[in-house]
Amino acid sequence: MSKVTVIGAGAVGATCADDIARKGIAKEVVLLDIKEGFAEGKALDLFQTSSLLGFNTLITGSTNDYSKTANSDVVVVTSGVPRKPGMTREELIGINAGIVKNVVENTLKYSPNAILIIVSNPMDTMTYLAYQAAGIPKNKIIGMGGILDSARFKCYLTLALNCAPTDLHATVIGGHGDTTMIPLIRFAKLSGIPVTKFLDQATCDKIVADTMVGGATLTKLLGTSAWYAPGAAVSLLVESILLDQKKVLPNSVLLDGEYGQKDICLGVPVVIGKNGWEKIIDLELNEEEMNKFKASADAVRSMNEVLKTLV
Ligand code: APR
Repeated sequence: MSKVTVIGAGAVGATCADDIARKGIAKEVVLLDIKEGFAEGKALDLFQTSSLLGFNTLITGSTNDYSKTANSDVVVVTSGVPRKPGMTREELIGINAGIVKNVVENTLKYSPNAILIIVSNPMDTMTYLAYQAAGIPKNKIIGMGGILDSARFKCYLTLALNCAPTDLHATVIGGHGDTTMIPLIRFAKLSGIPVTKFLDQATCDKIVADTMVGGATLTKLLGTSAWYAPGAAVSLLVESILLDQKKVLPNSVLLDGEYGQKDICLGVPVVIGKNGWEKIIDLELNEEEMNKFKASADAVRSMNEVLKTLV
């Protein structure tokens, strides 16, 4: 049985710890946060649900003591700050880059063999930074965003089709951002049948548009960014790693010529198993989809450039 650490015991971190524990896929989940007592409190509250919900995963908390995270198989990084009014994107990258770099270095001191999952935003850039800071094989660094965006895509498809969400296969690739993600409507299927057979063009366009602003819609409704679906998306990813399920899931990974891109982390479908991301699935994109992917890469690359100006 395995050990999972979640860095950042905030909304997303605690929800994903909760989901992982309920699934019974890990022996222990460690929550770590920089805020004094916060992770310990969240962990104790969550662990007190074990007898009620019927799981045996131990959940513990730690205030910035990485020795408690030693020998983790998977480490999920959700630490960071959300964007505040008046703050530039560059400033946000500056703060979160410092946090993510520090967290990755501390983590690897105690868990050199861990697979890292990066959730902090801007996720594709933070995943690229983690790859550079970690110095571990690229297959062990996974940025989580595409699974969440695909879940939102499936949610809007479900509402339009009045179908069972679990009957849908739909994928979002590209960057994890309002303008950079690419919901692949042409590839979306309901029990193997293209959804475009059931939906007219205007409905398809609306589903794609709603998916792209899926996160922003929730931020507006909630006053902060979402946590249930992000937590569940991380937990699905962790499950495929720990149980070596070989699920095909869209994640941000380092591209080396695939999809015409190099030296960038971007969302593509990958096989997820015990070694992290094990293989990139090459979708046959048409010219329009390929152009969108290139534009997405250009946008993420210019964001990555900002990293060079930071210490
Ligand atoms: N080390 C450990 N924990 C940290 C650090 C650090 N250096 N810096 C911040 N944290 C913790 C905060 O104390 C906080 O508890 O990270 C937690 C973040 O939690 P929330 O503010 O609730 O944010 P959340 O909604 O969980 O989002 C976390 O995921 O989806 C992304 O955009 C989102 O980047 C954000 C991240």
